[in-house]
Amino acid sequence: MSASTKPRDNWGSKLGFVMAAAGSAVGLGNIWKFPYTAGDNGGGAFVVIYLFFVIFIGFSVMLTEFAIGRRTQKSAVGAFKSTDRRWTFAGVIGVTSGLLIMGFYPVVGGWAIAYIAKVGTGLLSAPEAIGDSFGGFISDPIQPLMWMAFYLFLNIVIVMKGISGGIEKAGKILMPLLFIILIIVSVKGLMLPGSMAGLEFLFSPDFSKIDSNVILAALGQAFFSLSLGMGCMMTYGSYLKKKENLVQTTAMVTAMDTGVAILAGVAMFPAMFAFGMAPTAGPGLVFVVVPQLFAEMGGIIGLLLALMFFIGLSVAALTSSVSLLEVVVSYLIDEKGLSRVKAVITASSVMAVLCIFASLSLGGVGPTLFDTGAFDIFDLLTDKIFLAVGGMLVCIFAGWRLKREDLEDEITNGGEVKFPLFGLWYALVKFIIPVAIAIVAFMGISSGFDSGKGAIMLLGVGIIAGAALISKKF
Ligand code: TRP
Repeated sequence: MSASTKPRDNWGSKLGFVMAAAGSAVGLGNIWKFPYTAGDNGGGAFVVIYLFFVIFIGFSVMLTEFAIGRRTQKSAVGAFKSTDRRWTFAGVIGVTSGLLIMGFYPVVGGWAIAYIAKVGTGLLSAPEAIGDSFGGFISDPIQPLMWMAFYLFLNIVIVMKGISGGIEKAGKILMPLLFIILIIVSVKGLMLPGSMAGLEFLFSPDFSKIDSNVILAALGQAFFSLSLGMGCMMTYGSYLKKKENLVQTTAMVTAMDTGVAILAGVAMFPAMFAFGMAPTAGPGLVFVVVPQLFAEMGGIIGLLLALMFFIGLSVAALTSSVSLLEVVVSYLIDEKGLSRVKAVITASSVMAVLCIFASLSLGGVGPTLFDTGAFDIFDLLTDKIFLAVGGMLVCIFAGWRLKREDLEDEITNGGEVKFPLFGLWYALVKFIIPVAIAIVAFMGISSGFDSGKGAIMLLGVGIIAGAALISKKF
């Protein structure tokens, strides 16, 4: 018997769903990735393009994913497959993205937990060593692996307990806490002398910095941060009750996610400029700036705030990564007929192996491809290619394979909810977004060849094309 004949587990309450979806969206993408990606890509100009993509592409794609998920009552692969077998590959690409993102996400999640311990055991007492300490830590072969394993274990426990039990509770309690801590960090940073240069870097766009790399990075960041392009929000939508308002839910989740990303930027850049650090500090940014800020503050308050920050970061990461694990797990349950326990063990074992490669690659250990290590390969493939192309496929599928009336019926709950912008949304999804993504991806890949990353991105496109060709076999 297939598991899908049983009635589907539902979200406990409306707020529960919004918080779980926001919990999926708000994570390392906002607090760890957004600041350093903005820093690497010129600051203000990147932020403007990112916001533009969030509003015009992110919002529409999220609404599309919720609608498809709830309509078909299926997870990523099943949603496509039940409509048209030739489209199965789009779901399979999503599940693959989930595996690959979980091939590095728990590594960084492990760092976040490790920093709770490091702060608690005296990291802040030697502020001048904080930068070197991070570099030494992530390139160590053993230590980060143990933290990664612990982090992955927490994911396994939460996802094994099922939808409304595990994910919802974790999100509801701990998300607001993180928000408050970020505000405190921002205020503290803004009080430092010289901090205004940071705000200027983040918000006054220098459009000469824009090139196709920056545009693709902004698109990738929008997808990554909103948890789009891999059927994650589709899977969440499949557990959503028929009476909920999809448009409102989408607006709330998008606003919260973007708000937290901007807030994280405001928390990081003023302090960085005040400390005289370069905005291009890379993936270590949050792990160096925040401890330094609280070390500067000193005393028990500085210590407590730093502890709370890394606890909040770990929890935000957890509520996101459980959604990634859930996509792969739902696929194994719905399509392969595995029990939840077996599905969780299978998925997380593959993820653990990928994470070992990713973590070791930061210390220069392990195989490389075009001079790029596993961590960066997984990030490049997903963030720059799979998610954007996945989002494009979702839009093409909705626009050209599903019926307009059915989408309207689903989004308006059979006419009960008003959505005056339906026509605009439909035009965006059917024509504009697919074309826009194709152009941005094409140009980004072409210019990526300057740095050798283009080859890996092209490989990603090849994988998708290959999957499309053999789609009926999945
Ligand atoms: N959005 C999450 C973050 O910002 C990461 C994430 C969770 C994700 N689920 C996803 C990214 C699905 C892409 C697709 O940390």
